[in-house]
Amino acid sequence: MRNIVILTGAGISAESGIATFRGPGGLWEGHRVEDVCTPEALTRDAALVHRFYDLRRAALSTVTPNRAHEALARLDREWTGKLLIVTQNVDDLHERAGARRMLHMHGELRSALCAACEARLPWSDALPPGTVCPACGAAALRPDIVFFGEMPYQMERIDEALSCADLFVSIGTSGAVYPAAGFVQLARQYGAATLELNLDPSDGSAWFDETRLGPAGTLVPAWVDEMLSANRT
Ligand code: OAD
Repeated sequence: MRNIVILTGAGISAESGIATFRGPGGLWEGHRVEDVCTPEALTRDAALVHRFYDLRRAALSTVTPNRAHEALARLDREWTGKLLIVTQNVDDLHERAGARRMLHMHGELRSALCAACEARLPWSDALPPGTVCPACGAAALRPDIVFFGEMPYQMERIDEALSCADLFVSIGTSGAVYPAAGFVQLARQYGAATLELNLDPSDGSAWFDETRLGPAGTLVPAWVDEMLSANRT
């Protein structure tokens, strides 16, 4: 067992106090996903979409990484094989816990994207519609969030990592959103073993060799201990 790909979703940040998307009622902070997470929504009501992500960006300073983020950061530091943490989350809790071998496939709250020149800029303040891009001068900065219908980031790098993975682990994701939901099948085709750590079985639970149910803050540190001690023997 040398190469690991880990996919994380909203469930890993739940114990830090960040709401998941598909909780009871299917609403998220009072909004339907299609009202705030589609290119059409941005065209229809940019002020609403920008404000929604402004509030979430501001809320990042009130939360901290939990034991699951910390355990994955430890695995990243100590695992001598290849490792890639692919997160669907737009919060920055993996990197604040110290993870380095990671990427954000659905964008980042603390980043702005220029709709004109596609520059991506670190951004920690409010981002009103019409903010001017420092790279090209167009009044076209938007939240750097991958909306439904847009292509997630770094798909080639993810595919490359999956193609040489010995183990694929999915943590805290409902398996409802593609292409991430399809990674388990892809990993299997490439010959990896597959493990799911989640509070409830995900939509794609049947695809995993093993599923462990419980809170990420408990399951992830235990799994990381297991991996690192097996690696030493
Ligand atoms: P969801 O809200 O769909 O699913 C969260 C999953 O986490 C569920 O399966 C829960 O059972 C599980 N969960 C909740 N609390 C947990 C805990 N303490 N420990 C472990 N698991 C827990 O979130 P995602 O699957 O991440 O896309 O959603 C995928 C994408 O849908 C998001 O990235 C977002 C959204 O539209 C974009 O913003 C582009």
